[in-house]
Amino acid sequence: MYNNKVLEEFANPQNVGVIENADGVGVVGNATCGDIMKITIKVENDIITDAKFQTFGCTAAIATSSCATKMVIGMTLDQALQLTNEKVVEYLEGLPPQKLHCSVLAEEAIKKAIEDYRSKHQ
Ligand code: FES
Repeated sequence: MYNNKVLEEFANPQNVGVIENADGVGVVGNATCGDIMKITIKVENDIITDAKFQTFGCTAAIATSSCATKMVIGMTLDQALQLTNEKVVEYLEGLPPQKLHCSVLAEEAIKKAIEDYRSKHQ
């Protein structure tokens, strides 16, 4: 059901783990499937210098969190807020329609981590 790019990302995920003393933490869950994703970020001069994820979820959730963390490293916070689940899915060259909702978790977790950072650094 998944394309090769998704399966590769799932088999070799990047940025797995939790950043110690993270500047921002975002935790989101999907009430329907029960999957949970946590993203931690490090921020310097408004730029995301590191991002890691921990996902208790399906293949699509793990592949999209891996991609999303790779994509936001090096972005400004405003750029990272523009990252949509569609862009993550595009990077993965598509997800099965019934798995599209999984990619929303990655977008939401990044947004929450940025909100968390901003709420502490005003
Ligand atoms: Fe729950 Fe994919 S089925 S995130």
